[in-house]
Amino acid sequence: MSTRSLNKLRVEAATCRACPLWERATQTVFGEGKAGAELLLVGEQPGDQEDRQGHPFVGPAGHLLETALERAGIDRAATYVTNAVKHFKWVATEGRGKRRIHQKPNTTEVRACQPWLLAEIEAVGPRVIVCLGATAAQSLLGSAFRVTQHRGKPVASPYGPPIVATVHPASILRGDPEQREADLALFIRDLEAARLAAAEATSSPARRGSSSPPARGARAPAANR
Ligand code: URA
Repeated sequence: MSTRSLNKLRVEAATCRACPLWERATQTVFGEGKAGAELLLVGEQPGDQEDRQGHPFVGPAGHLLETALERAGIDRAATYVTNAVKHFKWVATEGRGKRRIHQKPNTTEVRACQPWLLAEIEAVGPRVIVCLGATAAQSLLGSAFRVTQHRGKPVASPYGPPIVATVHPASILRGDPEQREADLALFIRDLEAARLAAAEATSSPARRGSSSPPARGARAPAANR
């Protein structure tokens, strides 16, 4: 896929029918941020709020992400934030007061959406890609990749910039409340590692967005495709 501007990609993705998820979603939620952002963050898919508002990470997980970024010394406004899947996948709860419950996208849906993510990576040209959770990490690094084994460590990727994988902020919200501060601290530590890897990539001779060797400190994951 040749490099297309983010605006052009956003317009094209608005009518994407590559998988059936568009039928039940309100809209395509495309990534947001600057071309040239040093960090490109990838979540799983838009949630209920994101689907309604049309912007990534604006619900509870987004608020936690923003707090963690700030505490890791990262300005969200200077990043590019997107998702592996651009439509909200959900099921309705039974009975009155129906709520839309998030469902994990399957491999076919993730694969169908991958060209948009790769085009965003190409258009943004980040120094480091941050995968938030297994869906994002497996979209880019293959289904055998385990976040638990590699979290917070830059791994070489075939896309040019190294990838730092970490947990999804929603998993911290869903987890044991007594563990929340500890989980948040580990999440922040991983985001700091991504910030440092981006700084290191800036000072290394490797050209941004090229297929030249990944930044120093990047390790190839066992499950790299
Ligand atoms: N969870 C995600 O993975 N992405 C969003 O945009 C919101 C919640």
